Order: sequence, then C-alpha cells, then structure tokens
Amino acid sequence: MIETIEKSSAPVMDVKKVEQFAGQVITDMAAAISGVMSLIGHELGLYKAMLGKGPMTPHELAEKTGTFKRYVQEWLNNQAAGGYVTYDPETKTYELPLEHAAVLAIDDSPAFMAAGFNLISSVWYDKEKIVQDFKDGKGVGWHEHHHNLFFGTEAFFKTGYKVNLANRWIPLLTGIEEKLIQGGRVADIGCGHGASTIIMAQKYPASEFFGFDYHDGSIEVARQRAKEAGLKNIHFKVASADNFDEDDLDLICFMDSFHDMGNPLVAISHARTKLATGGSVMLVEPASSDKVEENFNPLGRMFYAASTALCVPNSHSQEGDYCLGAQAGPARVEAIVKDAGYTTFRIADRTPVNLVYEAK
Ligand SMILES: C[S@@+](CC[C@H](N)C(=O)[O-])C[C@H]1O[C@@H](n2cnc3c(N)ncnc32)[C@H](O)[C@@H]1O
Repeated sequence: MIETIEKSSAPVMDVKKVEQFAGQVITDMAAAISGVMSLIGHELGLYKAMLGKGPMTPHELAEKTGTFKRYVQEWLNNQAAGGYVTYDPETKTYELPLEHAAVLAIDDSPAFMAAGFNLISSVWYDKEKIVQDFKDGKGVGWHEHHHNLFFGTEAFFKTGYKVNLANRWIPLLTGIEEKLIQGGRVADIGCGHGASTIIMAQKYPASEFFGFDYHDGSIEVARQRAKEAGLKNIHFKVASADNFDEDDLDLICFMDSFHDMGNPLVAISHARTKLATGGSVMLVEPASSDKVEENFNPLGRMFYAASTALCVPNSHSQEGDYCLGAQAGPARVEAIVKDAGYTTFRIADRTPVNLVYEAK
C-alpha cells in the first residue's frame, strides 16, 4: 500500500514519516479501546482485587472477583501491554504496582482516575448527537448527554478538588477563608453532582453552602450525596447561572463551569450583584494558555476533545453564544470579568490541570 502511495500520488512523500505516523495512530487506537478495558477493570473490581496482593495468576484474580478466567487472562494481557500491570514470564503472574493502584484502585487517593473513564465513554455514546450538531449547530445541552458524563465528570474532578480546593485554593483567596471558618455564605454555580460543594461544606461546618445547576438530574444526585455525607449546611437547587437567588455571598465558585455558560458575561455579572462586601468570585478553569499552540500537549489534546464534544455544544445550546471552550485562556476570561465591572482579577493558583482565578 505504501508503495502505491509513493508511485501514484505523492512522489515527495516521506514513507518513513507515514509509517511513524501510522504507528502513532495505532498507539491512539490502542489507548482508546483500552479505556473501555479500564472501565471494565474499575466496574468489576479487578484493580481493587489486585491492590496490595502482589503477583497473581489470572485464575486467582478470576476467583477473587467471581469472573470468568479466560476473559480475565485476556484483560490482564491488555493491561500488561499498556504498562498498567507488570508481568513475570517465569511465574506467569501479573501485579498491580502500588503506584498504579493509587491511580486505578484506591478511590480516595489524591491520584485516583479510573472512574474518570466514564466521562470519555459518554462522548462515544453521544457521538451521533455531536456529528449532527457539527452540521446543524443547534448545540447539545449538558442534560442531553449520556449519564456516564455526569458520573465521570464528578469522579474526574473530585480527585483534584479533594487535594486542592479547601486545602489550597480557598486559603489563597483574599480574606475568604477567615470568613468561612467563622461562618460565611458560599454558592457553587454549575455544581453538577456537588463534589466541590460537599468538600467545602465538610471543611467549613460553620458556613452555609448553596449548589446551583440548571440540570435537575445532577441536582437530585447532589442532594443524595449530601444526605449520605450527613451534611446539614448544604442546599442544592435547580437554577441557572443567570438567575440563582441567594444573596450576601462571601464566595461564589464556578468550578469548571464558567466556560460552559452560553453567556458567561451575564452569569458573572449576576454573581457580582450577589456578593457580600469583600466577597470573591473564584473561577476554577482547565489549565490553558492564551496561545493555542501552547496547548498542544496531551492535556490540551484531551481538553480540546472534551470542549468539542461537550463544552462548546453546551454553550451553543444556550443564549449568548460565547462558546469560550475549555481552553479559553486567561486573557479572554479576564476581559469578560472586567466587562462585568469587577475591579480586580488575578491568577490565584496554577496546577498541572487547573487555573484558579479570583475576581473582586
Ligand atoms: C463540566 S461540568 C462541571 C460540574 C462540577 N462543577 C464539577 O466540577 O464537577 C459543568 C456544569 O455546568 C452546568 N451548567 C452548564 N450551563 C449552566 C448554566 N447556564 N447554569 C447553571 N449550570 C450550568 C452543567 O449542567 C454541568 O453540571
């Protein structure tokens, strides 16, 4: 086939580069199908069953998880080929290293990611909707997606929130943590399943927390989560970013939701009318640079894909049509914040995954 390409259409084509790039695409295809394997490992408890157990045979893992050995053996070979588990040819055993278990098997580890594959799976489920939206441009609202999106988003972002939100980001804001320790009022806009709202409510029991999201299904789950956590200082309500009703708020957070808004200017202007004196708005956004070319890395690649399938279509489905996208960059966000009349805007923190902005 390569010879044909060389002779017929592209005499200057570098065959080595074709082969190299084809190899890259195979690697991507292997990663894409292996994402499903990771979800299977997560859902069947295969990773958890390997946690701290040292080398295991497929038979032992199948016995422990009540699964069919032949499938487990094939799955383990996929995992070994991807470097997720190690393989010892002498004993024909497989082992999940502790460092990998932290990412794949330990739910409350600060590096846990396995459940995040649900988010990726939702994009496959909804591919036809996205293809159609490319053609008619009507947008696809968050609520129109497969439910794996809601659970996957919760799982993916919760890990970072657990590490950073109450331990690092809130203390970095200007004069906010003292208020929350004494007893303040906080709103979390576009709260989804409320992972961030719950983390804050647990850390600051004297404060009152309000989670708002326009998607009623997400709010229902958020209420359930708060109940399970036994929290009394938290209230979840169905409301849009431009019409939520609580006043006198010391902190208003947009956790990975600002760029999803149809009209982020109206949303953040509304927030400004709801702030108490000295209050702050915190925008936690995906890490990105103003220059697109500086976002051309694995994380930017993932965020641009999510943005194409989820963020821009949601924004496009609402009034305003800003379509900021997940890689909006600090300059565009700052311009909107300033247009809304805020006098100060700063980058309060950067992590490999997030940019944290404070506006006052
Ligand atoms: C990427 S998710 C983030 C969810 C959650 N904040 C988190 O970090 O896990 C974006 C959320 O914004 C919500 N959303 C989108 N447009 C909205 C709007 N105009 N008003 C309120 N919520 C909105 C979606 O329903 C979704 O739950």
